[in-house]
Amino acid sequence: MQNLVILTGSGISAESGVPTFRAADGLWMGHRVEDVATPEAFARDPALVQDFYNRRRAQLADVQPNAAHRALADLAARWDGDFLLVTQNVDDLHDRAHAETPPAAGFELVHMHGELLKAHCTATGRVIDCPGDLAPDQPSPFHPRGVLRPHIVWFGEIPLHMDRIETALARCDLFVSIGTSGAVWPAAGFVQIANHAGARTVELNLEPSFGSRLFDEGVYGPATEVVPGFCSEF
Ligand code: APR
Repeated sequence: MQNLVILTGSGISAESGVPTFRAADGLWMGHRVEDVATPEAFARDPALVQDFYNRRRAQLADVQPNAAHRALADLAARWDGDFLLVTQNVDDLHDRAHAETPPAAGFELVHMHGELLKAHCTATGRVIDCPGDLAPDQPSPFHPRGVLRPHIVWFGEIPLHMDRIETALARCDLFVSIGTSGAVWPAAGFVQIANHAGARTVELNLEPSFGSRLFDEGVYGPATEVVPGFCSEF
C-alpha cells in the first residue's frame, strides 16, 4: 500500500478550454492580476472583481473534464492507499470527474486556492455554494456586516488546507506534479517536502517547470497524453 500525493495546476485543464495563468500576454482575460485578484482590488473596485469572477464562473458551464482528469479519477477508484489530490485550480473539473467515477476510501480532493463555485462571507469566513453571479455588495446570509465574495485565495492570502497537505506530503511514497509552472508558493515547495520524506517525485508537464531539476523524473507533453500514460503504470 502506497501513499500518493498529486498536485495539479492550470495545465491539466488547458485542453478542456480553461486558460492557464502565465500565458504569453501575462493577463487574465484582459486584466492585470493586481486589478482583480487581491484583497486590495476587491476593496477598491468590487464591481470589477465580482464581474471578473462571474465571467470565469459562467465559463465553467462550457467546459468538461478531459482525459487527464478522468485518468486521475480512474486511478483514485483503484488506489488502495491514501491518495490526496491537491489542486491549485478553482474550476470544478476534478470534482466532476470523481463524481462520474467514485474514488476508493483513501481518496481526498482539496482545492488549495479555493473554488469558483463557492463564496464566503467577509465577516465570518463561512463558505456557501455559489452557482451564479455575485453582485458588488452581495449581502451575506451569515452576518449583517458581511458581504459574499468569491471563495478564491487571492495574492497575499493564505492557501487553504495547508496542515492536511503538509501532513500527507511528509508521509507520501509518491508525489506527482501535473500542469503547474512552479512559479507560485507554497505549492512550488511541495516537491522539497516529498523529497525530504524519501518519496519518488515525478513531474508531468508540457515543458520543464521552474523546479524541474528537483524531481526524480519528468515526462513532458500535453496532459491528456502524459497523464493517462503515467496512470497506466499502476
Ligand atoms: N498539458 C500539460 N501542461 C500544460 C498544458 C497542457 N496541455 N498547457 C500548459 N501547460 C503547463 C505550462 O507549460 C505551465 O508550466 O501548465 C503550466 C501552467 O502554469 P501557470 O499558468 O503558471 O499555472 P499554475 O501553475 O496553475 O499557477 C499557479 O498561480 O496565478 C496563480 O492562483 C493561480 O493557481 C494559480 C497559481
